[in-house]
Amino acid sequence: MSLERVRVAAVGDIHCAKAMTPGSLAPVFGQVAERADILALCGDLTDTGSPDEAKLLVRELAIAKVPVVAVFGNHDYESEKADEVKKILVEGGVVVLDGDSVELCGVGFAGVKGFAGGFGERALQPWGEPILKAFVREAVEEALKLEGALARLRTPHRIELMHYSPVRGTVTDEPSEIAPFLGSSRLEDPLNRYPVTAAFHGHAHSGSPEGRTSSGVPVYNVALPLLRRRFPNEPPFRVIEVQGDRTNGGAPTAAPPVHAGSGLGATIP
Ligand SMILES: [Fe+2]
Ligand SMILES: [Fe+2]
Repeated sequence: MSLERVRVAAVGDIHCAKAMTPGSLAPVFGQVAERADILALCGDLTDTGSPDEAKLLVRELAIAKVPVVAVFGNHDYESEKADEVKKILVEGGVVVLDGDSVELCGVGFAGVKGFAGGFGERALQPWGEPILKAFVREAVEEALKLEGALARLRTPHRIELMHYSPVRGTVTDEPSEIAPFLGSSRLEDPLNRYPVTAAFHGHAHSGSPEGRTSSGVPVYNVALPLLRRRFPNEPPFRVIEVQGDRTNGGAPTAAPPVHAGSGLGATIP
């Protein structure tokens, strides 16, 4: 690993399932070590949130041989054993972020699950029935958690991980009827307030690979089914390269242009 350049590979929606045979995820994780220094997983780590699926995922991740940082997705809550799943992953060496931040190889990561509610002027508002207000409150609280996690980072590069999308731009190829369930603009606000280098999310399996926040922060949808479909000849993860904090005196760097490189690559100066 270079101290000056750090490569981050990101993928979401692994949906590790009990029925998978050992080695099923080698095509996903097997090429990580040669192409990246860190692996970021953007939720739906498991298919039904069962402890057995989490144990299988830990075994499958061994082939990656780089630090792994992750957030949960909605599927990871399905069995209502999220605490147990998190414990298994953490004991397996995975850094699980839920409103937390961590520095790996000199790069800062902030992570939340996020939530739904829709985008822009059509976003769901907290008005009317209590259950509707509670729905909106979940998105607001996730946005507050994200803001807190970003505020704690002091690294020159802040990379944000979430499961739900913060922008409409990366869910545009999904049926419009389900767009409000794929993310929330409330998650975009913290990305615009802090010098975030890039944001990764999943959840929108049929969405679009790239978008930007209104302030220009690059947003990458790295849902595994999407990457496999849109980039069939590339490894099924997205790689960005950022400058380590030892080389620029710790000064935050402006949001980068996407580098039109090898399909999935992007260089962050
Ligand atoms: Fe998913
Ligand atoms: Fe999901």
